[in-house]
Amino acid sequence: MLCPMTPRFELSSPPYGIRSFRVSDLEALVRNADDPDVAASLQDCFPHPYREEDGRRFLEHALREKREVLLAIVEEDVLIGGIGLVPGGDVHAHQAEIGYWLGKAHWRRGIATRAVGLLTDHAFRELGFLRVWAGVFANNPASMRVLEKNGFEREGVLRRSVRKNGRFLDQHLFAKLAAGCAGA
Ligand SMILES: CC(C)(COP(=O)(O)OP(=O)(O)OC[C@H]1O[C@@H](n2cnc3c(N)ncnc32)[C@H](O)[C@@H]1OP(=O)(O)O)[C@@H](O)C(=O)NCCC(=O)NCCS
Repeated sequence: MLCPMTPRFELSSPPYGIRSFRVSDLEALVRNADDPDVAASLQDCFPHPYREEDGRRFLEHALREKREVLLAIVEEDVLIGGIGLVPGGDVHAHQAEIGYWLGKAHWRRGIATRAVGLLTDHAFRELGFLRVWAGVFANNPASMRVLEKNGFEREGVLRRSVRKNGRFLDQHLFAKLAAGCAGA
């Protein structure tokens, strides 16, 4: 059973923004996430088909999780996608992986670029991370462009490091360092 919570976090760039998930996001979450073209560029923990039960399980996790920063991408406060940071551990504790997705109806309007910009700035300025990175499947130029437009640099290609939908794919590693961190 999900417990309703008031929003704990919100950053906006009107009419878009990123904010904490809410129980009431379930219908919009499933409607936007249930798409093979969205799932194709994400890890298999983002299922297809994306059923109501998957959305409910994800929201339960997102509402309880303290360590990860899991957020909804919203247009006028209505969920249209998701974005999150997964902090590293041990010798990687100064960095976080960023991941994101948008419902297909909202692609190519610059929304992911804005959301990644908001969360990356927050990761550096408020959360104290020194490096934010992302792994992008080789067949996803739109996501690479989103990262490049936010000042991420391609650091390398992890050859055939992903097996997705039965195909082996290269993964491109992108990262951005906090200001002043490059020479550290
Ligand atoms: C990747 C994704 C988040 C992009 O979201 P978006 O809001 O459409 O992205 P934006 O509009 O901010 O920017 C997309 C950029 O890629 C470009 N682009 C889109 N499709 C492209 C393609 N096939 N080839 C090259 N560039 C492409 C756009 O022209 C735009 O660049 P521009 O502003 O220089 O013209 C969205 O497609 C998505 O959710 N895909 C499925 C999940 C996913 O891939 N998540 C990321 C995993 S690393």
